[in-house]
Amino acid sequence: TRPHLIAPSMLAADFAHIQRDVNMINASQADWFHIDIMDGLFVPNISFGFPVMKAIHQYANKPLDVHLMIENPDRYLAEFKGAGARVVTVHYEACTHLHRTIAAIKELGCLAGVALNPHTPVHLLKDIIVDLDMVLIMSVNPGFGGQTFIENTYSKIRDLRMLSKGVNDDLLIEIDGGVSLSNAAGLLEAGADVLVAGSFVFNSADPTETIQALKAVDIN
Ligand code: DX5
Ligand code: ZN
Repeated sequence: TRPHLIAPSMLAADFAHIQRDVNMINASQADWFHIDIMDGLFVPNISFGFPVMKAIHQYANKPLDVHLMIENPDRYLAEFKGAGARVVTVHYEACTHLHRTIAAIKELGCLAGVALNPHTPVHLLKDIIVDLDMVLIMSVNPGFGGQTFIENTYSKIRDLRMLSKGVNDDLLIEIDGGVSLSNAAGLLEAGADVLVAGSFVFNSADPTETIQALKAVDIN
């Protein structure tokens, strides 16, 4: 099996001590910074925008993995690239012309991902999967950190692995929402490559050690 990546979600960081939390992740075994952008339209919450993202980018020494929970993301793709995005993931449910949006992300030189809400079946990606670098499977309803993991996620990961097999074997599968040490091994076994973790990391007694523990999960 290939090594998995850990992407702590900055949504759960302490925004009054953002530099401290960025430095914690810099010095940890985390692979990416997961950046959650919410517009109050696609999801019933507003997180943060470009100024905060740029502040994170200024200190981050690892790639920014940007999860756009926004309507009509095409309008802002270049600005997200300018704010430091390395991976840009848009929601299937927010994109009428998904193929065009994915092409635009790649033209900017970013990795392109598509996120699926819990009710959206993976087979809807059949005709775009060859163009994707990553698929993000939401394992909670997007909008908030700290929610309960949805068990159906495991079968979605397996379905997606079957769908991508032989067509796009390099596809990364990212899982986002309610990830912890109690489900990490099962998710990796089902075929996940990237685990996002927000509250489980930042609410733990020692976030650096928690990241290390998530990174060390071994399935063989
Ligand atoms: C939810 C966000 C997640 C969130 C995960 O809409 O996309 O990235 O920060 O938080 P936890 O790990 O606490 O579920
Ligand atoms: Zn996210």
